Order: sequence, then structure tokens, then C-alpha cells
Amino acid sequence: MARENRGRATNAEPERTALGRLLTLTVGAPAAGGTFVARHEGRVVFVRGAVPGETVVARLLEDSRNSAKARFWRAETLEILDPSPDRVPSVWPQAGTDGVGGAEWAHIGLHAQRRLATEVLQDLLTRAGVSTFEVQEAQVEPAPHDTDGLGWRTRVRLTRGSDGLLGMRGWRSHEVRPVGENPLAADEIRGLGLPELEYAPGVEAVDAVAPSTGRPAVVLVGERLDAREVTVPAGLEDVDLAVLGSGGLTPLQGDGMVTEEVQGRRFRVGATGFWQVHRQAPEVLTTVVLRLLEAHEGETVWDLFGGVGLFASAIADEVGAAGRVLSVEGDKRAGALAAENLAETPQASAETGDVTDWVRAQGAGADRVVVDPPRAGLGPELMGLLCERTRERIVYVSCEPSTLARDLHVAEESGWRIEDLRAFDLFPHTHHIESVAVLTPAS
Ligand SMILES: C[S@@+](CC[C@H](N)C(=O)[O-])C[C@H]1O[C@@H](n2cnc3c(N)ncnc32)[C@H](O)[C@@H]1O
Repeated sequence: MARENRGRATNAEPERTALGRLLTLTVGAPAAGGTFVARHEGRVVFVRGAVPGETVVARLLEDSRNSAKARFWRAETLEILDPSPDRVPSVWPQAGTDGVGGAEWAHIGLHAQRRLATEVLQDLLTRAGVSTFEVQEAQVEPAPHDTDGLGWRTRVRLTRGSDGLLGMRGWRSHEVRPVGENPLAADEIRGLGLPELEYAPGVEAVDAVAPSTGRPAVVLVGERLDAREVTVPAGLEDVDLAVLGSGGLTPLQGDGMVTEEVQGRRFRVGATGFWQVHRQAPEVLTTVVLRLLEAHEGETVWDLFGGVGLFASAIADEVGAAGRVLSVEGDKRAGALAAENLAETPQASAETGDVTDWVRAQGAGADRVVVDPPRAGLGPELMGLLCERTRERIVYVSCEPSTLARDLHVAEESGWRIEDLRAFDLFPHTHHIESVAVLTPAS
């Protein structure tokens, strides 16, 4: 990479020009959010695209928050002066500097990515004050047989840029950038060649789904799209196709649904509805949830933030006909699908509503509870309520370790202890991880 000396400041030689400037930085520990911490004149700079231990030239982002008065700055790596042995040729060059978001660790070896994610997880648990679990035991594990972290993404959204081409948004940016060959996407999605196809003028984004059964599904998204006027783009004759406009979802080919199969159980999912993104995630998470939950025949289990019934269906087999599983989901469509997906297991039922309201309204508690909230986590109120109303164990599935750590500490303060915590690299080449913690009453 060419070395650019103009405008560069070093730690010893402070830069005095405006933002957007270049800094030479020595990069340290990973921070939550996929960046790495460096310091410039005492100020923290969160650097994207670096590896701990490296010396890099980074450019401060043109971001209003990067003002001279800001407590910390954000910067993107432009040049590596002293590379880390953990740096590898990026698996997705278009996700590098000035590139698309969604693979911010693609330039780091997979083992090192997991080591860094483990460091972040342990740090978050420690900072949250977790005290009933030895945080060093929390280790990020790969999905079984995952050797390269590629081809796992079964859900992809492409967005149309001002040039009319499909791409993805940049990191912390609304600008749409070219994706090239997205190596994280499932082969079935890559094979569609979506960025090269021609779309009607009103198409603002394209969602692609590679379900575990049946053909791929594509959804054309646009506020002003009228499904009656949309023609099938050449190249998409053999996929399920739907239009998502202001009037909702209209199927053009297929029924706007996909069928996912996990350990012999089948789930109907809306083509734009929530489903675990990594190809192996539904199986990995179902297996670990069942193991940690330790449900027995005849027990009552709540599956909160239940989606279309993934965990509830498996738990229903554990508690048997004498037991009871209640799945609670906020999204009406997903809740209705959960009811359908659970129809053949009479001991399981699905309700639609806000989880906190629903738990508050329950007269009796549950023997065991599974929660799988969005990134915001449970929050102190709901965590506290569950500690009051659960008799045996709470299994907490989390896609955001910072909110998990916060909530686990609340549970500890409410007299519960963390019995185990597993973490999985279900978003390779990104900083995201999925964790599953199990809580039991301390006495
Ligand atoms: C991470 S997903 C988990 C879904 C399911 N456990 C699975 O693995 O397929 C979180 C789910 O919580 C739902 N959700 C978000 N906020 C909610 C709330 N306040 N009350 C009920 N459900 C909510 C979302 O619609 C989403 O389906």
C-alpha cells in the first residue's frame, strides 16, 4: 500500500488541521461494536479495519460526532505500517475501508476473530459486575465443522444506490456501495447474481432468503411498488418472488413463505420474517437450549420472544403431553405462524403480545423459561420479573453480549446465579456472537 505522508499526525506530533485528517495510531484492545481502541493525545479513537497490536494510518470519519470537543473519535484504517500476524487477506475486499458494512473482521484470521470476541465477552461480563460465574470460562466456539466462516448467511438485504445499482450500505453510512461477490451469503443466494439483474424503477431494496428446504425466495421492496404492475425480473423465474410495498406483502411466485426444517421439525416462516440467519444457528441453538434447560415431563415452560416457535416446538417434546409450553411473540404475523407451527403439539400454544405485559399478567409462574430478546435485551424490569416468577431455571439466548451481561448482573442481584454460559460464532467475519446463559436460583 502506498505511504501517504501529507497531513499525517503521529502520537508525538499532534495534527492541527480539521476532521477527516490522518492519524498514525497504535491499536489496542477490541471494543464493543467491532472497532479497536487507540489513543491520540489522550483521546480514545475507535478504529475500524485494524488488528490489535498494529500501527496504522487511520482517517477520522467525516462524522459530526467527531468534533474537536467529542470525548472519543471514530476512524477507519487506510494504511498498515506494522501488520499483526493475525491479519489475513480479506475474505471480502468490498467490506474493507470505504466498503460495505457487515464483515468488519473479514481481514482477521478466524481463530483470532474468536479470540477477540471472547476477550470482548469476558470484558463485558467483568465490567457488568458478574460474580457468580468464572468469566474466563466464557469462550466463543465455532459452529460445528465451520472451517472458513463463509456461505452461512441465509438472509441478505441489498439496497439500491443513487446510481440504480444494488449494493449494501457502508459502515455507519447511508451510502450504498458495491458488494462484489458476497462470500458470507449462502451459495443459493450468490447463485442468483442479484446485483447484476435489472429491476423496476420503484424497487428500493431486494431481500433474498435461502431456506433449508425448497427454492430461494426473493422479495422486491419499495414504498411505491404496486405489485400489479411489477414484472418478474429476468433471471428470477425459478425463485419464489414477492413484492413488499406500502400495502404489505404480495406474492408473485409462491406464497410469500418459506419452510425451514430443524431436527425433523418443520416451520413456516414469512419470507421477510425473523429466522436465525446462520445456516446452522437453528440447530446449534435448539440443541444447547434443550441441554441447558433440562426440562422434565409435565413441567410448564415459557418460550419468550418465541418467533415462529423454533424452541417451543422442541421443548414441547421434552415436557410431553402432560406438560405445557407457552410461546410469546410480539409480531402478529410471527405469532400466528407460531400457532400454526405448534398446532400438532397440543401441549404447546402461541400467544401474541408484548413479553413484559404478558409476564406481568400471569397469575402463576413457570418451572423454566427461555428468553431470546432482540439486541436491547430484557432490561432490569423484565429480568427482575422473571427471577420472581421462574421456579427452576432461565435460559437466556442473546445476540448482544453487552445487554446480556447487564441483565445477568441484575439476575445475580435478585438472588440468582449463572450456572453456565456458552457462546457461538454464528456471525463469522463480524464481531457479533450469539450467547446462551443459564441461570438458577442461588439457594
Ligand atoms: C431474536 S428473535 C428470536 C425469535 C425466536 N426465538 C427464534 O429463535 O426464531 C426476537 C423475537 O422477539 C420479538 N420481539 C421483540 N420485542 C418483543 C416484545 N417486546 N415482546 C414480544 N416479542 C418481541 C421479535 O419479533 C422477534 O421475533
